[in-house]
Amino acid sequence: MKPIRKAVFPVAGLGTRFLPATKAMPKEMLPVVDRPLIQHVVDEARQAGIEHFIFVTGRNKSVIEDHFDRQFELELTLSERGKRAELEVLARDLPGPGQTSFTRQQSPLGLGHAVWCARELIGNEPFALLLPDVLVQHKRGCLAQMIDAYNTLGDSANVIAVEEVSRDVVHMYGVVGVGKPKGNAFAITEMVEKPKRAEAPSNLIITGRYILQPEILDILTTQATGAGGEIQITDAMIALAKKQPFYGLKFEGRSFDCGSKIGFLSANVAYGLARDDIAPAFRAEIKNLLGEG
Ligand code: UTP
Repeated sequence: MKPIRKAVFPVAGLGTRFLPATKAMPKEMLPVVDRPLIQHVVDEARQAGIEHFIFVTGRNKSVIEDHFDRQFELELTLSERGKRAELEVLARDLPGPGQTSFTRQQSPLGLGHAVWCARELIGNEPFALLLPDVLVQHKRGCLAQMIDAYNTLGDSANVIAVEEVSRDVVHMYGVVGVGKPKGNAFAITEMVEKPKRAEAPSNLIITGRYILQPEILDILTTQATGAGGEIQITDAMIALAKKQPFYGLKFEGRSFDCGSKIGFLSANVAYGLARDDIAPAFRAEIKNLLGEG
């Protein structure tokens, strides 16, 4: 069984739903409490044992590269001022030397295209794909849960994190068909991108975390554009599913779609309330705002 050592983080999108905040700053650097979205997702990958972090970036995204580097002037100033706790946080958050790679997607042609841009860095091994605008809140991160499942599923398995939504909204997402259970996971019988409500095979949607076999890269090489004129990862997965098994994992934890304003604001509330250092004061302030204080 080949271990999952590498994770891909596509961060080259335009983030149009967050304009003007994302005019000069990448969406992936928006903070949930005091950590950028991309840091939360890298933390999840590190917890899952990932050793190499591949970022597919674009223009205006160089601050992400800086974020995952040391900042000597800042470190010196913090050290002169005796700010040890802050220094420890900075050191803890940083992947080690040589553990990050950055490549560019020159035009934002879709998620599938972003993954394909990382093909040389991924090489010929299975890899994790994490969308940085999806956060999953749980003690054991979503990717760690997926790797636990993957380790029981066999060498050519692909695993997708799925979650239940109300039938009323399935038409907005990629939806999977549910086959036989296997351990904690189940065989995926079909995948449909944005189905009509009546035609959706289930109410389980694809949630922004994937474990994929390297053969997906061959498919992406010849992939035609799909919905929205973009090269879609779901189309490539549908093609790969003809040759390799796909499994769905209903992960434990609550997800937040931080690409939407409501999801992003909800994540800030949920992550704020989960922090011992700020939760009591934050809860009181929320009650005040809601007129319940
Ligand atoms: P989204 O579609 O949610 O992000 O893609 P977006 O396009 O930046 O946002 P909006 O819809 O315009 O507001 C999910 C992730 O995939 C990356 C994005 O950066 C985001 O982290 N992505 C998307 C790419 O890297 N390249 C693309 O061509 C598309």
